[in-house]
Amino acid sequence: MAIDLFTPISLGSIALKNRIVMAPLTRNRAGQPGNVPQDMNATYYAQRASAGLIITEATPISPMAHGYPATPGIHTAEQIEGWKKVTAAVHAKDGKIVLQLWHVGRISHPSLLPDNALPVAPSAVKPKGQAFTYQGLQDFVKPRELKVEELPGIVADYAQATKNALEAGFDGVEIHAANGYLLDQFLRDGTNLREDKYGDTIMNRTRLLIEVVKAVVAVAGSDKVGVRISPLNTFNDIEDSSPQALFNYVAFLLSKENLAYLHVVEGSMGGSEPIAFDYDFLRKSYKGNYMANLGYDKARANEVLATGKVDLVSFGSLFIANPDLVERFAQDAPLNTPDENSFYGGNEQGYTDYPTL
Ligand code: PHB
Repeated sequence: MAIDLFTPISLGSIALKNRIVMAPLTRNRAGQPGNVPQDMNATYYAQRASAGLIITEATPISPMAHGYPATPGIHTAEQIEGWKKVTAAVHAKDGKIVLQLWHVGRISHPSLLPDNALPVAPSAVKPKGQAFTYQGLQDFVKPRELKVEELPGIVADYAQATKNALEAGFDGVEIHAANGYLLDQFLRDGTNLREDKYGDTIMNRTRLLIEVVKAVVAVAGSDKVGVRISPLNTFNDIEDSSPQALFNYVAFLLSKENLAYLHVVEGSMGGSEPIAFDYDFLRKSYKGNYMANLGYDKARANEVLATGKVDLVSFGSLFIANPDLVERFAQDAPLNTPDENSFYGGNEQGYTDYPTL
């Protein structure tokens, strides 16, 4: 029988009941003060536990990793306790959940950082656009270039955050190397102008990502670790002169780490896609489970799963609006429409009150 969204699969040590994944979604509803997951967040994730796998919203690994209001961290004792409520609620409903490890790099603002610090980045290149802050939209600032001596500390923060995530009861972690945040900023020649061993060549630009992967794998085991990339995303003013070569090499390097999966944002969340890109070519460079994302519906997901090129599909906005997306797919039932006005911030409205069938 052909593989489809309802065929179980194991990602490393994580056994999934289906191939319908809830994509990571920033919702800006962490408890204040302290950016602590709260009961409402546990309810939201538990409502969606029929997914084969839930990937949490992007979760800052350190105080300097924050770039938006009310995003829940994984670097304080209170946050770990808060996340325990989430993992317990999801596991009670027989779900699986991994935490997405996030450092925003330059996509931040001093008002969101300790002592009004400058955001950090591979190079002092200011992003176009504005940051979301507690005081509303404010222009991005020119970030501070990380010193080479500081990079082991960043890698150590990823390792510590992984320990924290396991303590909080997660089934694994996903390293966020997509969408123009810190690790993506290091990968691209538009944002990484370094001349040391972390910059210039493609090999050097992938160094920080691979160091982070190895450090996270050392803590969690490779069978509990996924990585997310977005080769063509121009979101967050990110650019690269040759994404195909860059990301084929990234996929090749990640293959050697024997990870649970590679998660690929197949397109752009931020306007134009100027360069042609061959995802099949990328796929051939990666030996392991491939999770596809962006703009899929049930029919297209089943189509690509049947080809064998894609092993799982993640759904973002469909999961915001349909806590019982799995059941709706199973019954070919109509889907609720997501309300964009309640995506980022607020209360239960537009969060835990979408109706089930
Ligand atoms: C967002 O907050 O808009 C956001 C966060 C993480 C992403 C993409 C978008 O990967």
